[in-house]
Amino acid sequence: MKICFATNNTKKIAEVKAALGPDFDIVSLEAIGCREELPETGNTLEANAFQKARYVKDHYGVDCFADDTGLEVDALAGAPGVYSGRFAGEPRSDERNISLLLEKMKGQTNRAARFKTVIALILDGKEYAFVGEAQGEILQERIGTGGFGYDPVFRPRGFEKTFAELSMEEKNAISHRGKAVKALADFLK
Ligand code: IMP
Repeated sequence: MKICFATNNTKKIAEVKAALGPDFDIVSLEAIGCREELPETGNTLEANAFQKARYVKDHYGVDCFADDTGLEVDALAGAPGVYSGRFAGEPRSDERNISLLLEKMKGQTNRAARFKTVIALILDGKEYAFVGEAQGEILQERIGTGGFGYDPVFRPRGFEKTFAELSMEEKNAISHRGKAVKALADFLK
């Protein structure tokens, strides 16, 4: 079964391929000839994920799924949420996003936060959504060098290490995206 994953992020594609196994031919945007940036103007993770998936289906005619992830911080009323990628403005920068987050969290005692991933799937003309969450807290400073995005300042609940200190396998087993991908894989299989 051939399905496009609406991303060019090779780490995400590798993760999904590992979860789905050899019966699924997962292809990137580049592989279907899509080089333009996908529209992402919704106010929710789900809206953005479906916007991207529908764009690919409408313009390239292939079954596909798209993901969108956000970090929700309780003390910031759920921010940066759907704006996590461009929290500190354009061009997007993980470094500046983390600096702004730590600045806004200075003096905050409630450090609870969660990552949330929504995967939108369009298959045989029908639409499905899969969600994964990882609860945790925002640290006072960066720890660890692995991962990407906000990983160095996010410590998952029940762990002594940040996401940036875990191996890819350890992170995938408990992460928001890992859980959403597992739900997608269980459905497709
Ligand atoms: P996207 O939806 O995957 O493009 O991610 C949106 C924002 O969340 C970007 O700033 C990413 O760096 C961040 N992000 C997504 N997934 C993760 C993760 O697993 N760890 C840390 N940050 C992430």
